[in-house]
Amino acid sequence: MLVLGIETSCDETAASVVKDGKKILSNIIYSQLVHEKYGGVVPELASREHIRTIIPIVQSALKKAKVSKKQIEGIAVTYGPGLVGSLLIGLSFAKALSYSLGIPFLGINHLEGHIFSIFLEHPRLKPPFICLIVSGGHSELILVKNKGDYHILGRTKDDAAGEAFDKVAKLLNIGYPGGPAIDKLSQKGNRNFFRFPRAFLKGSFDFSFSGLKTAVALYVSKRLSQNSDFPTTDIAASFQEAVVDVLVEKTIKAALSENVKKIACVGGVARNSRLRKEFKKRCKDKNLKVFFPSSILCTDNAVMIAACGDFHLRRGERSSLDLNAVPYAELI
Ligand code: KG4
Ligand code: ZN
Repeated sequence: MLVLGIETSCDETAASVVKDGKKILSNIIYSQLVHEKYGGVVPELASREHIRTIIPIVQSALKKAKVSKKQIEGIAVTYGPGLVGSLLIGLSFAKALSYSLGIPFLGINHLEGHIFSIFLEHPRLKPPFICLIVSGGHSELILVKNKGDYHILGRTKDDAAGEAFDKVAKLLNIGYPGGPAIDKLSQKGNRNFFRFPRAFLKGSFDFSFSGLKTAVALYVSKRLSQNSDFPTTDIAASFQEAVVDVLVEKTIKAALSENVKKIACVGGVARNSRLRKEFKKRCKDKNLKVFFPSSILCTDNAVMIAACGDFHLRRGERSSLDLNAVPYAELI
């Protein structure tokens, strides 16, 4: 089955054609540049960019896949969570295309999409496993009992992991998006320079990163008020180490407590080089296996939406034309 995936939940306009939920025929992603000068996503500008680019992006996904729109058998589109204006562009486009072609469409939960990003390159990874979704909007620890069957173990109580990266990068004045900037800078820094607090929230699998962000802000403002310089690279590396420490420790604890041997780490922050290294090392020590998507499938993309859509469409699931965008959609 040929499925067209469409993703417009935040600041990426993406379209992809996937065959049988496995074979990526195209993966077109336009990352909006307009937000750079504001140091964060401006929702109204994101919607306008989606409107401007959705048609050429879908056209190039079809062209790259060498299929005509008449060959597409189903459309999968993100309906939430995300920015309501952005979601509405992709969703309305998908509805119109499905209606005009007379083919089914299905609204996909963006978080379930991220979970499916792991299956494309690791087809032998079978549930049950623990999935850590870490992105700009989410930090969720999920027990994947089966495809389509999830149990949420924990989530962030305040800032998402990626959000913390972005806010600390802004504070340190090292660019946007903050995650890649901190990752790169940290490679030259001393991660043991300063021990920032780790919120392990004992007895819970929830996360909290706002205290850590405040600790970095306080450290920086104290140094500035004393008119003393601070080593940006070392602060970045020390902050990153605190985030990585908490994410890896809690995910491994969840795997041990659920008695599963496999972990998947997905979402934009899963690109982080220190996170990958530390996950691999600590999982090996505990006899666990950890899986990551390749970089291009970590950040928002439509491949994961098409693959997830393929699974649900095959089960006969369909959305009707009155499906609305749901900015705070829950996974279950
Ligand atoms: O999954 P994604 O593209 O969008 C959301 O669904 O939010 O994730 C974007 C987030 C941003 O916060 C960005 O700073 C972070 O992923 N990110 C990283 C890295 N690359 C992207 N965080 C840490 N290290 C990276 N290398
Ligand atoms: Zn995402």
